[in-house]
Amino acid sequence: MADDYQGPERVLSGVQTSGKLHIGNYLGALRKFVDLQKEVDCFFFLADMHSITVWQDPDALRAQSYNIAASYLAAGVDPDKSTIFHQSAVPAHAELAWIFNCVARLGWLDRMTQFKDKAGKDKERASVGLYTYPVLQAADILVYKATHVPVGEDQKQHLELSRDIAGKFNYDYGVANFFPLPEPLIKGQFGAAGARIMSLRDGTAKMSKSDPSENACLFLADDVDTLARKVKKAKTDPETLPSEPGGLEGRPEAANLVGIYAALSGKTDAEVLADFGGQGFGAFKPALAELVVEKIAPIGDELRRLEADPDYLAGVLRAGAEKASAIADPLVAEVKSIVGFVR
Ligand code: AMP
Ligand code: TRP
Repeated sequence: MADDYQGPERVLSGVQTSGKLHIGNYLGALRKFVDLQKEVDCFFFLADMHSITVWQDPDALRAQSYNIAASYLAAGVDPDKSTIFHQSAVPAHAELAWIFNCVARLGWLDRMTQFKDKAGKDKERASVGLYTYPVLQAADILVYKATHVPVGEDQKQHLELSRDIAGKFNYDYGVANFFPLPEPLIKGQFGAAGARIMSLRDGTAKMSKSDPSENACLFLADDVDTLARKVKKAKTDPETLPSEPGGLEGRPEAANLVGIYAALSGKTDAEVLADFGGQGFGAFKPALAELVVEKIAPIGDELRRLEADPDYLAGVLRAGAEKASAIADPLVAEVKSIVGFVR
């Protein structure tokens, strides 16, 4: 469907408030937020309503909500430039999500791979929220008429669904170009590097907050020793590094470590291999550990400083929710009128 949307460019993204952030979240999402806020009107929120699609202990959820807000700020998301808020503080998301539940088709949701992964074998026992999760995500985006959405590669399918919902709403209600068809921004400033960071224990599995092994993830909050130890313990193979990216094929762990080095240093895989090709992991891992510590440990320090000041964080989030509501509330009023609701 052609997109002739004429509205302003607007960037929006969110991160679930379930568990601590890791360098996959940083490279796939946060670092892009920091770059984008310099150029465009940006909305970055904490997807607490998405988090409860799987069970969250309330006290843990509260703590994580502050931890993730602090992670945004520590990574460089600036509350003077970007609007930062909790999803649950802006009820317009939920209202639009209901209307979108009536636009999206069952067949579309049946294809969502994240639901299949998260629901596992026993999908009868998954929450209904987990199933309609991508519909709420579409509402998050379109309630601000966001045009661009910086996310990691795993979110591509959800973004396609958002485009389908926007297009069907515009068509069904005869309001051409009312909603933009939002585009994912998967590549970062340094190209594809960082779009998909894999587990340090298994180069074929995505680095994920919910991985049971602590050693699989480099968390932003890890201290210097922990970061260095995890890099040194990362799974590898017995070969030396190739001198060109083609040689990484079939070597997922090696490819992942080279990818992390590339993303953190702003180099391409080819440039990293031009420096390290022919060397073993005994030489490469210490260099990677040093780079990880240099780039990530200062974020952890700032994160701890901010977490110790929940009043400041609460103030930032309250101001953000007000700014967000000022845009989202009138949009929902307009949508209700388009749909035919009276008041
Ligand atoms: P989530 O933690 O699932 O809420 O993800 C928050 C953001 O981080 C989304 O934009 C994801 O696409 C991104 N992300 C999560 N895991 C990774 C990963 N392993 N590599 C790259 N990006 C990721
Ligand atoms: N589903 C996203 C994730 O797991 C988080 C999210 C919720 C999101 N709503 C969003 C991302 C809207 C971008 C835009 O990563």
